[in-house]
Amino acid sequence: MNELFQPTRFGDLELRNRVVMAPMTRSRADEQALPTAEMVEYYAQRASAGLIIAEGTAPSMHGLGYCRTPGIYSPEQISAWRRVTDAVHSGGGRIVLQLMHCGRVACAENKPAGARTVAPSAIAAQTELFTDSAGLVPTLTPDALTADEIGAVIEDYRQAALNARAAGFDGVELHATSGYLPMQFMAENSNQRTDAYGGSLENRVRFPLEVLKAMSEAIGAGRVGLRVCPGNPYNDVRDSDPLATLQALLAGINGMGLAYLHVMRAQVPDLDAFAIARAGFSGALLINDGFDFASAHQALTDGAAQAVSFARHFIANPDLVERFRHGLPLARFDRKTLYSAGAAGYCDYPVHQTVEEGV
Ligand SMILES: Cc1cc2nc3c(=O)[nH]c(=O)nc-3n(C[C@H](O)[C@H](O)[C@H](O)COP(=O)(O)O)c2cc1C
Repeated sequence: MNELFQPTRFGDLELRNRVVMAPMTRSRADEQALPTAEMVEYYAQRASAGLIIAEGTAPSMHGLGYCRTPGIYSPEQISAWRRVTDAVHSGGGRIVLQLMHCGRVACAENKPAGARTVAPSAIAAQTELFTDSAGLVPTLTPDALTADEIGAVIEDYRQAALNARAAGFDGVELHATSGYLPMQFMAENSNQRTDAYGGSLENRVRFPLEVLKAMSEAIGAGRVGLRVCPGNPYNDVRDSDPLATLQALLAGINGMGLAYLHVMRAQVPDLDAFAIARAGFSGALLINDGFDFASAHQALTDGAAQAVSFARHFIANPDLVERFRHGLPLARFDRKTLYSAGAAGYCDYPVHQTVEEGV
């Protein structure tokens, strides 16, 4: 049997195949950052993935940055997510929640009243965000977190991990790339602190490592994953030595017993992040970016990783696993509906006809 369809294990999670759905923000939550009925349907349709990593979700209202993105900090959100996880589990699937604190990648229009915008240092990201009320707007200059406030943010992540479990998720993934809060601590241009969370590399990786430790203590490390993309400059972050940062992270997580490490590759000259992670991480490795069936199969055959995650292929192919299994053609997604509200271009992509007919 093709390696992609063989079961595997990520810590405490048993995967029935190695075709993982990568996290994707799709902006279908409601105004209260609550998961909607469309989200229940969308994730249920994709339950045949070996593991679904649900979209970036705020651990507190302060962590919101984009419009119509969900949270996991209120009892209502926990109940609404429960409908998603129940639907995926009924389909025999596994689902973890990606925890995404946007930090300085935020604007007032996309947050509730009273929510703050915080980051390691009071330096705005040079980028704009889409808002439903005012179109594209510049990001806010964040408040620099005090040491006590950093402790409170870590506590928010810990509580969010517990909330995710209460909502029925099999685990959580820490989003530590794409210029969000953990990456803002790791990158030099967004972190100019002079305390234990800034300056040396050891200090700059302290925040993500402490978050992982707190979440692991709360729900068990075997249910906690980490996503990185060394050198990714998205949302205005600059790391002058992504190799050193990756190695410091690997050194920090190796004894933790995490469920998995999810590595997305960026276009960084002379940095083979997959190979470095494979050599330096003893747990389950999940790799991502630009894979198709053939290249994913090759990667697994070569022993490059335990599993491969796919994002864009899952958008228009809810039955991606079946299409891979039967060599069926893949449908193409519509860019215009990637982040639009409602069901169109979200949970209305059909399964392949021949699969439906049992051919
Ligand atoms: C619409 C869209 C939304 C995304 N949202 C997230 C997200 O919330 N969290 C994250 O870590 N990556 C996010 N990504 C990145 C994907 O998880 C993935 O790394 C990227 O698309 C490359 O994988 P692919 O070639 O299989 O599409 C997003 C990508 C797309 C296309």
